[in-house]
Amino acid sequence: MIEKICNLRDIALGKIKEAASGSEVEELRVKLLGKKGELTEMLKDLKNMALEERKQFGQEANELKNELSELLEVKFREISNNDVKKSLSKGSSFDISLPGTSFQVGSLHPVTIVQKEVERIFTGMGFNIVDGPEVEEEFFNFEALNIPKNHPARDMQDTYWLENGSLLRTHTSPCQVRAMQKYGAPLKVIAPGRCFRNESTDASHENTFFQLEGMMIDKNVSIANLIYVMKTLLSEIFKRDVKVRLRPGFFPFVEPGFELDLNCMICGGSGCPTCKHSGWIELLPCGMVHPNVLRAGGIDPEEYTGFAFGVGLTRLAMMKYGISDIRVLNSGDLRAMEQFSVR
Ligand code: PHE
Repeated sequence: MIEKICNLRDIALGKIKEAASGSEVEELRVKLLGKKGELTEMLKDLKNMALEERKQFGQEANELKNELSELLEVKFREISNNDVKKSLSKGSSFDISLPGTSFQVGSLHPVTIVQKEVERIFTGMGFNIVDGPEVEEEFFNFEALNIPKNHPARDMQDTYWLENGSLLRTHTSPCQVRAMQKYGAPLKVIAPGRCFRNESTDASHENTFFQLEGMMIDKNVSIANLIYVMKTLLSEIFKRDVKVRLRPGFFPFVEPGFELDLNCMICGGSGCPTCKHSGWIELLPCGMVHPNVLRAGGIDPEEYTGFAFGVGLTRLAMMKYGISDIRVLNSGDLRAMEQFSVR
């Protein structure tokens, strides 16, 4: 048996030495060490041997296996190196110093980056993320939010209607009602998503944009809770403590309703072109949920109160990244998107 191994070794070494191309080396590897290779076949005889013989033969065979696979590897590398050297010396067009072919990796859209950031902040405060349909029923988009037919507030939210009476939602606020109906009180949710309005587009208006709705309902929720949560959001996003102010603002589904302004971060409040010299930037509409809206969501306004807010995600992304034209964000222009290469 040992003799057989020695023979195989001699023959194999000779052949490896003679091999002249990568494919020959590979053929040899299969022939010697492959599943049906010569060495493998030999090992099959092991089971017919006496214990002592089996031990010795097994060991020798294994050593040979290791030796051969190493030699094959070395030979293969040698041949490839020679191939490269040969083609270089022939002055062929193959240039070993050229960089490899790269492939493009995409990056997250700026609105997605901001959305993820806001989601992280709110889930950290115990809010859940919910979703709602972009093609919405009139009831959820308007009626349930205390905006009956013919209410003038509908004028500001003109949208695209489908023949079946549904519409493309004008805001993420319908998610408030859907969440209340589904989960009841107490409730802490955010709902990011795409919204639509029938607008003529310009640098600051688009027919398609992103908002993030938020809602908290519990016993004794007050405006103080609202302000605290809004301040936490803004200071986390802008990475410093921020000054805010509340102004009255009208939205039929909140009472009282506010516009929350951010002390201008460019000038620190003294007035500059960005804040139109007012020292404040209008950022977050919000308010205490109107009793009619709580009722539409199946929650008793005598027992529970809550606040709601709408973050303009598109706007936030524009501010955070200094994008002055909203249309860039929907353009799909890679030259613009590539600048925010967070993956
Ligand atoms: N949905 C309102 C809008 O799009 C914003 C808003 C949300 C206001 C929640 C108050 C509370 O204009």
